[in-house]
Amino acid sequence: MSYVLDGSLLGYLLASIVLLLALALTDTIAGRRVRRILESELSDADRHLFHSRAVEGVVHNLRNHMATAVGYLKEIDAKRLDPVDRDAVETAKLAANDAVTVLQSLSQGATTRVTFAAEPIDLNELVTRAQDMARPRARVKHVELALRESPEQVKVKADPLLLREVITNLVNNAIDAAPQNGSVEMKTGRRGNGSPFLTVTDNGNGVADENRHHLFEPHFTTKEHGTGLGLFMSYGIVREHQGELLYTGSSRGAVFTVVLPPFPG
Ligand SMILES: Nc1ncnc2c1ncn2[C@@H]1O[C@H](COP(=O)(O)OP(=O)(O)O)[C@@H](O)[C@H]1O
Ligand SMILES: [Mg+2]
Repeated sequence: MSYVLDGSLLGYLLASIVLLLALALTDTIAGRRVRRILESELSDADRHLFHSRAVEGVVHNLRNHMATAVGYLKEIDAKRLDPVDRDAVETAKLAANDAVTVLQSLSQGATTRVTFAAEPIDLNELVTRAQDMARPRARVKHVELALRESPEQVKVKADPLLLREVITNLVNNAIDAAPQNGSVEMKTGRRGNGSPFLTVTDNGNGVADENRHHLFEPHFTTKEHGTGLGLFMSYGIVREHQGELLYTGSSRGAVFTVVLPPFPG
């Protein structure tokens, strides 16, 4: 079953993606000219129009690039690969398809509403896939990615694409925060009242006390090349699912928890 969200999720997604694209754009050489125009005496309305046109163009280009990548991925004959390479290609295909879906909804989605398809999903499957997705990033830092899945299925009703965005953000942050040879653990289960949850834990330095209040604010980042949009977007997505995104942790590491409403199945 699918239903329509109110405008706020679209707001989070579009605002964030638009900002990202705008930032990427203003960083290119051609972007210098763009920046001059943006900083000049344009009215807010003109500037807005200019930005949306520019973003439309970037989305269009990205869709073309992704279509090429997906096309070549499809051409790979998985039967000829050894199992490890086959898994890598399958994971790359899934990630590329997610990107295509996001870009498609962006290019159609200049409307005020976004449809979000909630369906029963198992948090155990979700974290297994998140682990596959995060492996290349973890490998670079020799970070161990561990799973502690609940022995039973943990069914929730959610939009799988959006929930994958949340987990990806949390896991990427955890890998960033973990030291070389550190560890990140994903865990699934149910709370005492039956609410499904998942946690992402790392052994970094956690969030400093003075930063805790800013964690979920847009553009809050302590990273040199950070956007500060991952947690902001994730918070909005989890809230749209009537769930909660919580931070607990200490100087010995961060713990982020997603709690979702119980789903009878
Ligand atoms: N696992 C974590 N450990 C320590 N700090 C974290 C962790 N996750 C997020 N943060 C803090 O929250 C900030 C915002 O995160 P996020 O919204 O994902 O943006 P970004 O990753 O681009 O900085 C990070 O810059 C970092 O300071
Ligand atoms: Mg992040």
